[in-house]
Amino acid sequence: MPKTITTQAHSNIALIKYWGKRNEHLFLPTKSSLSVTLKGLTTTTTINFSDDKQDHIILNNTPAQGSALIKAQQFLNRFRSHYKTTSTFTITSTNNFPTAAGLASSASGFAALTLGLLEFCGENYSLEEASRLARQGSGSASRSLHGGFVLWNKGEQKDGKDSFAEQLFPANHWKEFRILVVILQDKEKETSSRDGMVASIETSPSYKKWIQESEKRIPLMQQAIKDKDMSIVGELAEQDCLGMHKTMHDSTPPLNYWTEDTVTLMETVHNLRRTGTPCYFTIDAGPNVKILTTEHYEPLITKELKRLPIIKKTLSCTAGDGASVVTP
Ligand code: PMV
Repeated sequence: MPKTITTQAHSNIALIKYWGKRNEHLFLPTKSSLSVTLKGLTTTTTINFSDDKQDHIILNNTPAQGSALIKAQQFLNRFRSHYKTTSTFTITSTNNFPTAAGLASSASGFAALTLGLLEFCGENYSLEEASRLARQGSGSASRSLHGGFVLWNKGEQKDGKDSFAEQLFPANHWKEFRILVVILQDKEKETSSRDGMVASIETSPSYKKWIQESEKRIPLMQQAIKDKDMSIVGELAEQDCLGMHKTMHDSTPPLNYWTEDTVTLMETVHNLRRTGTPCYFTIDAGPNVKILTTEHYEPLITKELKRLPIIKKTLSCTAGDGASVVTP
């Protein structure tokens, strides 16, 4: 068994969202979701055995605390009970992008951790199994095991065996595809996506309708990605995102991840589109905005974004690869 192992995984952005669990304990979603794994937004995780029979988790150079610590600890306990091991670990994990600001750091984090633990402990596993396990750290992490365009099938079984992600198209299927990740704020969000989902399911009058409509968008999105049709991909992604945020806004009490600057960015995207630039937005559980477009229009959009002083940083991403082992 190696003494140390380092893995990397990239964050992913859902074009058709996951928002809500039908089983909280097993992280089984109420609907399928479809995402793109992003090159550039990377978590790097190193695993060693712990020498004092306790787990040690260091996130971005600081000992993990609060909910991040609880989630990681629960995940490690799940791993130990599933693979029948009593090992304890020292885990060092670093993101090269803001943590918990709606940039899916938990997706890349749990995907890198899952792959690292399976490799470190010398388990024989399939990607399907890795995806199922990563799902139990953070739902969206099930998708980050894979590169390119990825479908997480909600599955039907009670034990979650058929709820895992699979690759639809590799990253090089659509080289011109771009996501511009516009960072407006890099603070941690106040309401976790876990709590937000519960609020939508339990109190939002629009939740059921969104689930039905969103599920219908999956085959349409799959075809549009196959055809590399940005206008259909963008329209579907924007509708899906707005439907998801509606289920937050009409919850009791209302939940809002947007700021005034988020709305300004949404208007900027719409104005650009009105004047002939194909670009679309999607937003997750945080204020930051991701703009979908193609390589050709990127310079024009970037020029327009430079005019907005509210923007802290813009990261241009193509579709990226799945999780991988960095050191043997
Ligand atoms: O995997 P979680 O618990 O971080 O939830 C992700 C939820 C969204 O990012 C809002 C949507 C998605 O499908 O990634």
